[in-house]
Amino acid sequence: MKLLVTGGLGFIGSNFIRLMLHERDDCRIVNVDALRYGSNPDNLSSFIGNSRYAFMNGDIADAKFMAGLIKDVDAVVSFAAETHVDRSIANPESFLHSNVGGVFSLLEALRHHNSSARFVQVSTDEVYGDIMDGSFTEKSTLQPSSPYSASKAAGDVFVQAYARTYGLHAMITRCTNNYGPYQFPEKLIPKTILRARSGLKIPIYGTGQNVRDWIYVIDHCRAVEQVLMKGRKGEIYNISASEEKSNLQVVGTILQMLGKSEDQIEFVEDRPGHDARYSLDSTKIRNELGWRPQENFADGIRRTVNWYLQNVEWWKPLMDDRLLSPAPWKLNW
Ligand SMILES: NC(=O)c1ccc[n+]([C@@H]2O[C@H](COP(=O)([O-])OP(=O)(O)OC[C@H]3O[C@@H](n4cnc5c(N)ncnc54)[C@H](O)[C@@H]3O)[C@@H](O)[C@H]2O)c1
Repeated sequence: MKLLVTGGLGFIGSNFIRLMLHERDDCRIVNVDALRYGSNPDNLSSFIGNSRYAFMNGDIADAKFMAGLIKDVDAVVSFAAETHVDRSIANPESFLHSNVGGVFSLLEALRHHNSSARFVQVSTDEVYGDIMDGSFTEKSTLQPSSPYSASKAAGDVFVQAYARTYGLHAMITRCTNNYGPYQFPEKLIPKTILRARSGLKIPIYGTGQNVRDWIYVIDHCRAVEQVLMKGRKGEIYNISASEEKSNLQVVGTILQMLGKSEDQIEFVEDRPGHDARYSLDSTKIRNELGWRPQENFADGIRRTVNWYLQNVEWWKPLMDDRLLSPAPWKLNW
């Protein structure tokens, strides 16, 4: 199987490529990434020279470039996106470029040059907005709150329209918050680990009661693999491990694991439009495709903390002053 993966130098895409190359001997991968801030070539440096892996520096919104690549692949899995909510509040335009224009150009390339290829658009629970009680199903209304989630929702509806109008074998996955190795240090969990370890204050928005449903990144990657292999045309699959925690609980767990005091927590001005709670019902992927998460939060977070402690040479070059800011959405990125 020849697979085109986009955004494969980022957090989830690089974990996905590593998993596929380790576990599927039949799989060859071309990875297209525009080397935006969230990317890191070190994530996959161990595969340089591997005959089953090739990297191409390119923008998914470049229609001509993508058309040339898409022609002779069996499937496309697209992780490429601008992903940080704070950055989308400070500077929304690049989100429109990658998350809407990029998806559109991939769909056009598929329509004109490889309409039988399978296509998985990797999306997010944030497109549904927040929910106080219960959980969103795949049929729930899209009510995005931030420029990031609005751009992802717009990309998703284009995918649905192309599956229906042009018959593309396109599918969408919507996953909850991921954590694990290789996550850029501006996101909550790695940021907390690295700041706690250095004795710095840990900024928490508002009162810290915002709830996220956490999943270990490899469980997400295995779910995407199942959708790629067995998912039905035009379908959406929610992915969640049902591990809901408030931000305060997550930070508290990490501080405890590192033997640090909760005095390191500093409550800071809330992010505008901050979603209160995310929760997904993932019955469909469990029943239809037989997927189940393998990792619980207690083990996964221990594994993740240990990975960051043992891989200083990976994250050290990525730290800069902006990552230490208590209110990143106020910065001019
Ligand atoms: N991180 C999460 O918790 C989470 C949860 C659910 C869904 N998702 C989705 O999963 C995908 C991957 O997320 P991530 O956390 O790995 O993000 P990331 O920011 O770590 O990686 C995104 C990658 O996409 C690349 N990219 C951005 N714009 C591009 C463009 N125009 N052309 C080519 N490459 C481009 C970047 O260079 C980067 O390597 C995203 O689509 C995101 O919406 C993430």
